Amino acid sequence: MARIIGGIGTTHVPSIGKAIAEHLENDPYWRPFFRGFDYVHDWLARERPDVAVVFYNDHGLNFFLDKLPTFAVGAAAEYRNEDEGWGIPVSKSADGIAELSWHVIERLLADEFDVTMCQDMLVDHAVTIPMALMWPGQARWPVRIVPIAINTVQHPLPSLVRCLKLGRSVGRAIETFEQDLNVVVIGTGGLSHQLDGERAGFINKAFDQLCMDGLAAEPETLTRYSIPQFVEQAGAQGVEFLNWMAMRGALTGRVRELHRNYHIPISNTAAATMVFENVTAANAAGDKAQARLRPVAA
Ligand code: DHB
Ligand code: FE
Repeated sequence: MARIIGGIGTTHVPSIGKAIAEHLENDPYWRPFFRGFDYVHDWLARERPDVAVVFYNDHGLNFFLDKLPTFAVGAAAEYRNEDEGWGIPVSKSADGIAELSWHVIERLLADEFDVTMCQDMLVDHAVTIPMALMWPGQARWPVRIVPIAINTVQHPLPSLVRCLKLGRSVGRAIETFEQDLNVVVIGTGGLSHQLDGERAGFINKAFDQLCMDGLAAEPETLTRYSIPQFVEQAGAQGVEFLNWMAMRGALTGRVRELHRNYHIPISNTAAATMVFENVTAANAAGDKAQARLRPVAA
């Protein structure tokens, strides 16, 4: 059976791609942000996930305002990126795992989430930037992905509780997938930011902290915010936090916060990185089995 090893939340600001291309990771502006990924790299090297399920929002590369599904699940063998503007290089493609995608889609439909199924799907910076941050400098990504797009762009948007429940359904689906795989769940975007209008540049540190604390301890507490209330607190694009809610929902076991980095600003955005451990009975049993197999240190 597949095991959910944990979850990662990360921003997906496009200029990060440009900073990577120009090797600016140790530049004074970028360093506090990129250093926040040292822990993530160590954790991923230890946990070695086979698959990443990525909750994100598309910004007009695959879906546009004319046709925008609330929830869309990729079921392709490969996901390509294309030139999105922003001055970032086109990313390498990500491999899919279509059999897991179809299993997730079937379980979501059974749970009354009538998702759009995408056998052909471009992925934008909201997938490729987090991948580049998590697995830097590799010729191919070391994981296969299941991309799940949540509409955070064209109102009306799904509620926080709906996204938490979507995540829970995806989590149950992963755990009933018969292949022996380690799965990491990722939520991208946020935290507070607004790119346009009178409040362009808006950031709300206190609210971001409340969201990160709530996500770690009790995500249900955050569901008291309606979407307009959330936008008021986090900014028009801060509502990308819906992807983080879905990620957290997919962590079905005992959840512990392992790591947090918060840095203002990266471009127009409050940039956050979080890692959560997900301990389930199956994971614990797997750990014991692995421990038995491990040679005793001399
Ligand atoms: C920025 C942030 C985003 O979430 C995005 O999708 C595009 C740009 C920014 O802060 O520049
Ligand atoms: Fe975005």
